[in-house]
Amino acid sequence: EFEDVCEQTGVTLSRYCIELANRGIIDEDLSSIFNSIREAAKVISKLVNTAPLKQAELLGLQGEINVQGEDQKKLDVITNDVFKNALRYTGKMGTLASEEEDEPVDGARAGESSEVIPVLSEEFADTGKYICVFDPLDGSSNVDAGIPVGTIFGVFQEPDPAECELPDDLSKGLSEDQQRCLAGTLQPGKSLVAAGYVLYSASTELVLTFGQGVVGFTLDSSIGEFVMTRPSIKIPARGKIYSCNQGNINEWDQPMRDYIEAIRKGEGESKKPYSLRYIGSMVGDIHRTLLYGGIFAYPADKKNQDGKLRLLYEGAPMSFIMEQAGGKAITGHSRVLDIPPVGVHQRVPVILGSAEDVDECKKFFDSSD
Ligand code: AHG
Ligand code: MN
Ligand code: MN
Ligand code: MN
Repeated sequence: EFEDVCEQTGVTLSRYCIELANRGIIDEDLSSIFNSIREAAKVISKLVNTAPLKQAELLGLQGEINVQGEDQKKLDVITNDVFKNALRYTGKMGTLASEEEDEPVDGARAGESSEVIPVLSEEFADTGKYICVFDPLDGSSNVDAGIPVGTIFGVFQEPDPAECELPDDLSKGLSEDQQRCLAGTLQPGKSLVAAGYVLYSASTELVLTFGQGVVGFTLDSSIGEFVMTRPSIKIPARGKIYSCNQGNINEWDQPMRDYIEAIRKGEGESKKPYSLRYIGSMVGDIHRTLLYGGIFAYPADKKNQDGKLRLLYEGAPMSFIMEQAGGKAITGHSRVLDIPPVGVHQRVPVILGSAEDVDECKKFFDSSD
């Protein structure tokens, strides 16, 4: 069964995927997609860990503004190409959506050119059955200072043509291929078949879920393999750390302000004051929350009613992992995984972590309704 694969510590990620495929828990295509994600993660780990030694090539700004309106870092662009090409070489991808691509692009290497074909252009052809959504470099504002950064990814299966429920304004004039791929990209997090993140820190950690629990691997660079180090990650029911950009507290909705004020003063349910830990890289803050317990929040605020984090490739994959580890993930009012995206870069308020901490926070929102 799934569990017996996890009990054999020292299992490499390569072998883990083969074992799951042999048991029919994942199919060969998904196994091959994870091979490419694994290889891309090693390359990005090397790039991030050696960047200061090649500053001209790898650090600083690219000089472009991305679709988010952010100043792109050189490594935002380089890691996006590494991850995108690794996936495209599998030949299993229908569409890819990335923080660093204006719109979803084709998942297959079209002809010789490595130019991507946007899903909305007429030459688009659907060639795979999986869709990957990803944030190639999360926390990139930290990368010049060597502060931990990460990669976040989620995998969807393409829907049957009959299930393509694109709103009319999105499906107008699109071929069946284009509609299926766009509908397949804009799926709610509860439809994810797999999700994971890579943390490039003191160690390089790869944490993933196929919907049957959360498993953690650590890169052993002496053999160039991710080795299983955490066979079954479960978040503690309650923690004593809160993780948010408290500098924004005056902008937050009142329930969020009241909740944070209560727990930091020891006036919450646990009666003990919580500590603040925040590094500003979602992957790092969430990995610590997953292992130590507590709550992470990037809530809505007066300027950004949908918060800052993007639903498709930050909020949804991290919420899937958090729920699979026994935690919870809400926007304040609703479950993140239930939200059907209407745009690739749509933002969403995210409050996630230990179940009892998230429940306590939600009481403040419920009583404000
Ligand atoms: P990215 O670097 O992929 O654009 O994401 C940055 C996000 C996330 O990693 C982090 O939690 C958040 O931005 C930090 O935002 P603030 O600096 O506003 O706190
Ligand atoms: Mn960014
Ligand atoms: Mn990010
Ligand atoms: Mn990013």
